[in-house]
Amino acid sequence: MGKDELAICLLGRPGSGKGTQAKLIVEKFNLAYFGSGQVLRERQQASDYTGEKLKEVMEKGQLVPSFIASKLWTDKLEEYKANSDLKGFVLDGSPRTIPEAKLLDEALVWYRWQIDKVFLVDISKETSFNRLAKRRQCVKCGRLTPYEEKYSNIKVCDQCGGEFVVRLDDNPESIRERLAIYDKEMEPILDFYEKQGKLVKINGEQPIEAVFEDILKNLEGCL
Ligand code: AP5
Repeated sequence: MGKDELAICLLGRPGSGKGTQAKLIVEKFNLAYFGSGQVLRERQQASDYTGEKLKEVMEKGQLVPSFIASKLWTDKLEEYKANSDLKGFVLDGSPRTIPEAKLLDEALVWYRWQIDKVFLVDISKETSFNRLAKRRQCVKCGRLTPYEEKYSNIKVCDQCGGEFVVRLDDNPESIRERLAIYDKEMEPILDFYEKQGKLVKINGEQPIEAVFEDILKNLEGCL
């Protein structure tokens, strides 16, 4: 991207806090946000073949084929290109396979952008499992309420009063599948970005604010 623009990817185990951190970065730097999981969940709502199939695949915790994920972010990149006020964007949760990582590089060359940093928000499998099993998301505004001591008595969203919902793929079987896929697919992707000098590993086991601070330190000089 140009000198005044920022392009960031956030990767990590399910529940690592990619989405939480992506939203903080977007807010701080006024960037556009693309969460592949969120966009795919929205795509499920279309009553067509792909909408139905996405429900089936994602509920089991399996990966969606790269051609579908890349179609969705390509459409978004095209939109970004048309926006002359764009300050940059955050990709949350993509790429998930090496073919997708290569396609993304190709697309970025096409659009004359480049990724500044790829953050790996690193947590153990145990933390991942515990966080997802307890995740509470507001049905109205989408806010995530962490399962921490200070929030444990909260029964509805403290932002808008909406009820909490459990994501369909946050059941033990799907969580196990998502973790197994992560272990299988992520190592070569991390190597790919390491070789490009873009990978930054962040300790995701710290409190949310500390994780964000570490990310910010690594963004100094990028803008
Ligand atoms: P996606 O929606 O991206 O799900 P995921 O990767 O499983 O990750 P999560 O959204 O569950 O967790 P997160 O890391 O964002 O953590 P969060 O901030 O929510 O993808 C869903 C599905 O879509 C995939 O399984 C796949 O099928 C498909 N998909 C998506 N992209 C694809 C692609 N490119 N190709 C193919 N398929 C694709 O935090 C989790 C919880 O922890 C929250 O409760 C939060 O409040 C809490 N928390 C966060 N940080 C902290 C912290 N530091 N301390 C304590 N609690 C914390």
